[in-house]
Amino acid sequence: MTGAFGCIGSWVVRRLLADGERPVVYDLGDDPWRLRMIAGDDVARRVTIVRGDIADHDALVRVVRDHAARRIIHLAAWQVPLCRQDPAKGALVNVVGTANVFEAARASEGRVERVVYASSAAVFGAPELYPPGPIKDDAPRLPATHYGVYKVANEDTARVYWDEHKVPSMGFRPLSVYGPGRDFGVTADPTLAMKSAVLGRAFKIRWGGRTDLVYTEDVARALTAAAASRLDGARVYNLHGASVAIADLVRTIEAAWPRARGLITHVEQPIPFPAALDDARYQRDLGPAPPTALADGLRKTLDEFARLQTEGRLDARELG
Ligand SMILES: NC(=O)c1ccc[n+]([C@@H]2O[C@H](COP(=O)([O-])OP(=O)(O)OC[C@H]3O[C@@H](n4cnc5c(N)ncnc54)[C@H](O)[C@@H]3O)[C@@H](O)[C@H]2O)c1
Repeated sequence: MTGAFGCIGSWVVRRLLADGERPVVYDLGDDPWRLRMIAGDDVARRVTIVRGDIADHDALVRVVRDHAARRIIHLAAWQVPLCRQDPAKGALVNVVGTANVFEAARASEGRVERVVYASSAAVFGAPELYPPGPIKDDAPRLPATHYGVYKVANEDTARVYWDEHKVPSMGFRPLSVYGPGRDFGVTADPTLAMKSAVLGRAFKIRWGGRTDLVYTEDVARALTAAAASRLDGARVYNLHGASVAIADLVRTIEAAWPRARGLITHVEQPIPFPAALDDARYQRDLGPAPPTALADGLRKTLDEFARLQTEGRLDARELG
């Protein structure tokens, strides 16, 4: 598994451990603090941690071979702000890194049964480019960011590895993932607002309009279901949580955490991503998997932040 120290990765590890798996995790980071927070303080004893860069082809092939991996869940990537800051390095990590993952799978000559990877709703452009309503799985990909362009490349890399080498794969397109552990990237602001609410601090969400908020555990459920599936081909799935206007999200946070009233504001400037996704293909192939209702995901997130705060362990470095 790559990118296991990140937000989604930590939830995937937690779920794999609950399912009795013993994942080998490959990440460049040196402190798996999110992993400890989400999968438990003893996580380092329950998973095999290999420190490495997905841009390093040989190291990745070696780790897949030495641990006789049968499935790869690939999540390591640079997010929108870093890709914008340094597009060439972003392409190295996101595009070359993903090609390396598929190469490692191909080199295993069939032992790796499938690659599951995170694409993104950023393969689609702004809502006004599409007919009204949730964006369907097969809608045209019109990325507005370097990051989105790299995710399109990842999906097409996956398709060519199926066509030419019969490496099965499943890619997933979440939009705004929220929940404990989410702290970086453009779409982290809803979670940062929830954390600020618990801390009693003011926070301005840097964008507005509508977005599709998907709870981290739902994303982990999709990725692990995909890893266990036996479907072939190079499949790509939209994920859907709750389509919500940021103004309404602010009101929902205030209703759930009344002490935060007036602290959370937002800028009414939409981001160039869809407002809602249609997850029909995911529900057909891997469902039924009803999304966590926003009120429930919000409650779990606020309660977890409050618990961590009481224990003096709520990490708020990203809030400055
Ligand atoms: N969070 C979201 O809302 C969202 C939405 C759509 C898609 N995604 C995708 O899901 C995946 C996981 O997202 P996340 O929110 O958990 O991200 P994250 O930033 O929290 O975690 C990314 C992880 O990848 C690791 N990493 C970065 N570069 C690496 C490299 N060169 N080699 C090895 N490891 C490296 C980092 O150390 C980190 O642990 C990414 O592919 C992301 O693009 C996320």
